[in-house]
Amino acid sequence: MDVTLERSELPAAGRVVVPVGVSGALGKMAQALDTHSGGLIRRVIDDAGRRWKHGAILELPFPAGTGLDRVWLLGMGKDDLDRLEIEQLGGSLWAALARLEGGSVTLASPEGIELPVPADQAQLALVTGLRLRSWRFDKYKKTDEDDQAAGPSRLAVAVLDEVSARKDLAEAEAVLAGVNHTRALVTEPANVLYPESFADEALKLRSLGLEVEVLDENAMRELGMGAILGVAQGSRRAPRLVVLRWNGGGGEDSPIAFVGKGVCFDTGGISIKPAGGMEDMKFDMGGAGAVFGAMEALARRKAKVDVVGVLGLVENMPDGNAQRPGDVVRAMSGTTIEVINTDAEGRLVLADAIWYTQDRFKPKLIVDLATLTGAVIVALGHEHAGLFSNDEELAARLTRAGEQVGETLWRLPLGKAYAKHIKSEIADIKNTGRARQAGSTAGAVFIEQFVAGVPWAHLDVAGTVWSSRDLPLSGKGATGFGVRLLDALARSYEDEAH
Ligand code: BES
Ligand code: MN
Ligand code: ZN
Repeated sequence: MDVTLERSELPAAGRVVVPVGVSGALGKMAQALDTHSGGLIRRVIDDAGRRWKHGAILELPFPAGTGLDRVWLLGMGKDDLDRLEIEQLGGSLWAALARLEGGSVTLASPEGIELPVPADQAQLALVTGLRLRSWRFDKYKKTDEDDQAAGPSRLAVAVLDEVSARKDLAEAEAVLAGVNHTRALVTEPANVLYPESFADEALKLRSLGLEVEVLDENAMRELGMGAILGVAQGSRRAPRLVVLRWNGGGGEDSPIAFVGKGVCFDTGGISIKPAGGMEDMKFDMGGAGAVFGAMEALARRKAKVDVVGVLGLVENMPDGNAQRPGDVVRAMSGTTIEVINTDAEGRLVLADAIWYTQDRFKPKLIVDLATLTGAVIVALGHEHAGLFSNDEELAARLTRAGEQVGETLWRLPLGKAYAKHIKSEIADIKNTGRARQAGSTAGAVFIEQFVAGVPWAHLDVAGTVWSSRDLPLSGKGATGFGVRLLDALARSYEDEAH
């Protein structure tokens, strides 16, 4: 779907979505339509009675006197309405438009309706919602078997100030491209997306001006990354460590660092997972996927900030050469780890990826994203990602960023008392805590052992990168969680500097 901008006036032909206030006020475009149609709009809305509320969509074919083929009246406005709810309204508008087979639809301006943001901002929020909700992954389906219509091929968005709307739209499209690319990566099966092919995909981002480096297994061995290599050794697919750099701030400042768990498939290894639902473990690279998409978004919108993104890419497989429960590995930091459970592999990946990131880049802060524990789903369901942090300011900033974009976080504890859970009899630490006790925190305190005095936050996104049901802004499957969050976080540092 192409999105174009137009001057705000009611079109004389074609198909148009007309926002209508819910509290009696029609808004300017709805008023014009009402006049052309001899009072039709007022009558339709009065007739709907209490069904006419925020989120209501009424479809009118060939409204007499207007010359239009089709009108959708879109109910907008309610108490405490915020920008995110307008995005979600865009998402539900998609349901009405998805039945169309190509062609163009005009989105009339909500000017004159009382909203929490100016009319052009509301338009942008609707477009964002439409774009997010309309994404789908159909590359492996025969088109003729696909009975779903693809929706309009063009959306003409009416705005009051074309110049500033064009700039805002371009920024929004940059981030949406990142989100949707992440969704595609997370959806790809593990026979297509594995460490090497994931790294190849990252190399393509060079065309956007990102610096991309790929470390292979030998480079990782030379650096002493025994923790990530221990996970990788059970797979026929070699691991990769990818470094993405965006120096939009001039490259002189210490950068912000994002680190992602990229387990392209997690069988559990020798501590193998049950068969039921194991196919979902292709999304165990969702943290790395989010870092990838965020870096893409920052590059596309030319963010004025220095950021480094590091992806730890492996596959966790059982094999004659796989690591065994009880094995002891030495991480790049020098810390030795007793691997009690080979299914607690994400923290082993992050141990080396985080140490490497701070050793090489001296970042001013680190945020890692990882589908780390099933326990975080027990604690928070799919409504929040778990947030763990050694720094109050960073935790607050992330929480705020999450609220802005609807990718919400809930803070969970760290601390010395929990660090006892990962003491090992024969090594410095072990990779699991106590059975059925604070499982997500055990993972977080493990990772914290590899953070050397830098503000750091760990986001356990196990419950949020994938959805088994349709959501307001995404269909079943990959959500793209984390991209907008990291973009908003980076933006908070940009705003500070300029
Ligand atoms: N990738 C899983 C966590 C996960 C589970 C993500 C379900 C999404 C949905 C992770 O590698 C894992 O297996 N964690 C174990 C840790 C345990 C062995 C300490 C878990 O949560 O069971
Ligand atoms: Mn696992
Ligand atoms: Zn995993």
